Amino acid sequence: MEIFKTKAALQAHLQKARSAGKKIALIPTMGALHEGHLSLLDYARPISDIRVCSIFVNPTQFNDPKDLEKYPRPIENDISLLESVDCDILFMPSVEEMYPDKNENWHIDLGELDQIWEGEKRPGHFQGVTQVVYKLFTLVQPDIACFGQKDFQQVMVIQRMIEIKALPIQLAICPIIRDQHGLALSSRNMRLSDEGKTKALALSRALQYLKDHIADNSGLREIKKKALTILTDTPGVTVEYFAICESSSLKEVEQIDTSKQHVALVTAWVEGVRLIDNMILT
Ligand code: PAF
Repeated sequence: MEIFKTKAALQAHLQKARSAGKKIALIPTMGALHEGHLSLLDYARPISDIRVCSIFVNPTQFNDPKDLEKYPRPIENDISLLESVDCDILFMPSVEEMYPDKNENWHIDLGELDQIWEGEKRPGHFQGVTQVVYKLFTLVQPDIACFGQKDFQQVMVIQRMIEIKALPIQLAICPIIRDQHGLALSSRNMRLSDEGKTKALALSRALQYLKDHIADNSGLREIKKKALTILTDTPGVTVEYFAICESSSLKEVEQIDTSKQHVALVTAWVEGVRLIDNMILT
């Protein structure tokens, strides 16, 4: 694996690969890698020639400077993990390298998409995400960019940015990786006790209930009510939001439109840890 810390060195290297007709996949991350991230690299392997993973803890997407400071940076372990899956290139720039102009302005009009759900809880978060991802896209010019379905709203935001900026990039939405019981993998799970992990299974159970019953005649409202009780009847689980939405706009729906795709989104707290999960329903 080759490691680059500067944009110039990375670009020079990729230019040669591109001229040789190589297909480039980008897997953007903030490090603290786990199996979920590695599954993105696995996903990219058969559909690309060169896999570029970036590790950059992006300051512009944090609302709270303390969260940014506390964000784990186990870089040696991340490098070993990437080597274990034969990643070709690791790009790990400094903040100065990515943001040479401290007063740089960025705004992309995403309509309501960055104002609702996660956007409402974390104002400005998706502007920061699009800012850094656009920089990475411009720099790497990947043929394919891999993002995890786990952060569903983030994926829809990136999709919208690709459309708005008319970027020639294929967005690969990689499936959520779950443990054997159904818990979606996340670095936050490390902060849960075994009991907390069991409680957290209520999220995937509620989503699965919706998926299994979405076509029932009892009506969406009734099905959602029952699914919600799976969460509210689990002591220690506090729901922040639980919604059935049209996938691309993430607008909540009262009825299923069979010509559209729908997703269920959930965010809940367990043992002080904020967990998010989702499931495609139709
Ligand atoms: O999902 C993440 O880890 C980050 O939001 C991303 C896409 C790497 C941008 O910093």
